[in-house]
Amino acid sequence: NIADSYDEPIHIAVIGGTGLQSIGGFSHVATLKLDTPWGAPSSPISVLHHPSSSRPKPIPIAFISRHGPHHELAPHEVPNRANIAALRSLGVRTIIAFSAVGSLQEDIKPRDFVVPDQIIDRTKGIRPFTFFEGGWVGHVGFADPFEPRLAELVQRCGHSLAGEGVRLHDKGTVVCMEGPQFSTRAESKMYRAWGGSVINMSALPEAKLAKEAEMGYQMICMSTDYDCWFENGGDVTVEMVMGNMKANAENARRFVGAVLDELSKGEHADLVLAKHLEGSVKFAGGVT
Ligand code: ADE
Repeated sequence: NIADSYDEPIHIAVIGGTGLQSIGGFSHVATLKLDTPWGAPSSPISVLHHPSSSRPKPIPIAFISRHGPHHELAPHEVPNRANIAALRSLGVRTIIAFSAVGSLQEDIKPRDFVVPDQIIDRTKGIRPFTFFEGGWVGHVGFADPFEPRLAELVQRCGHSLAGEGVRLHDKGTVVCMEGPQFSTRAESKMYRAWGGSVINMSALPEAKLAKEAEMGYQMICMSTDYDCWFENGGDVTVEMVMGNMKANAENARRFVGAVLDELSKGEHADLVLAKHLEGSVKFAGGVT
């Protein structure tokens, strides 16, 4: 009895990454197959309710699997514009995005979590990266690619799970590379010299598109390997990424669950609705 539509607006979404294809502890109330002017999203969108929600009405969460229900989409094939547009059309204003990352710092050990605050773009311009084209010229600031207020909430939730083995780094620069091949050793060392903390293939253009859609967006990274710069780490392999992701999946789910518990509280309604981001896109000529 899972519905194929959902009538209430949904304000909060989770974009699941490698290893986080679902989140437990929530009841699955609807599966939405959406279409957008940018095509179909990566996966049907699951609408989840927190079962122990004591409010008069349960708070719905939209969950989408970035790499498809069976991890069939390579990073450069993810329909990011469709994903963000589909979530926005449901009413989503706040996104918690999850990503498996390689570590560029010895102190960020495999299975540690990072709440990044900066991004370095190493994608190659082959991914559609904006909603604004074809006569519709919009600009938005990207100095802080993530939402600082959301980051703070996520940090608190992560630290509250320290007793359960969640090791959290409060800040970090994520290098987003094109892939799907991993980096060369020279590149990996260069990213360290640039001040990179972790590396993935998914932060962009997702974060840019969320900004253009005036949505609050924060990524939670989970380190799965030391990439290839670290001589004692062994060069990154898919087995390494998947193995660490699997081994720590319970913590990842716990962490995301704690963030959703917190976001569902009435006191964060303002943040969740991201009213402070409304009007952050400015239009220059063209079709307005
Ligand atoms: N995702 C997980 N580990 C990674 C790595 N070492 N490089 C790029 N993306 C990753």
